[in-house]
Amino acid sequence: MQLPIIITNFKTYETGTGSKALELAKIHAKVAADLKVSMAIAVQPTDLVTLVASVGFPVFSQHMDPVSYGSSTGHILPEAIKGAGAAGTLLNHSERRIPMDQIRASIERAKEVSLFTIVCAADDEEAAEIAAMGPDMIAVEPPELIGGDISVSTSDPDLIKRSAEVVGEGRLLVGAGVKTGEDVRIAVELGAAGVLLASGVTKAADPEAVLRDLASGL
Ligand code: G3P
Repeated sequence: MQLPIIITNFKTYETGTGSKALELAKIHAKVAADLKVSMAIAVQPTDLVTLVASVGFPVFSQHMDPVSYGSSTGHILPEAIKGAGAAGTLLNHSERRIPMDQIRASIERAKEVSLFTIVCAADDEEAAEIAAMGPDMIAVEPPELIGGDISVSTSDPDLIKRSAEVVGEGRLLVGAGVKTGEDVRIAVELGAAGVLLASGVTKAADPEAVLRDLASGL
């Protein structure tokens, strides 16, 4: 993936689901092309096929299970999201936490099918533990700031510095409350290779304007 990058997690917002997800993805594609910045999106597995066909940048699944072909009803099969065109998967998002042994197994399964892994961590300590498992990137998001108006960049710049040290160059994303180009600029300056955000874009009245502002921070 080309870094630095802005990744929008569509979560299960109405604006990030089905036909509305397609509209929002196209706005990302327009801004990414206009401003020549690197962007990606993380979407619900049911929207992967449609969105992959409509945008020219990486589309991630929001989750994946470390299962194989066979009897795993209701799980998200790595081969299935790969086949749907996903570039990779988020794992262990604060809203979809999984145990450490499952993170390890999921990273291994993702590697087997060449899916890029972005594993979320609540703080730098957890990031260090996960970094040792060899994911492609780690996204540090303080849970208490997720969905709020105060960004990780302004409220806890030290966390970004500490996380960059333990995670290593080009492997850290940060998120939670990120909404402006200034939030992005601070994060990148402190050692992040990009941001992972949601509500700043998914709840915006004018997502294109927000994305243009965010991109100005890269
Ligand atoms: O995955 C991104 C997310 O958890 C941050 O959400 O709404 O604070 O940008 P938000």
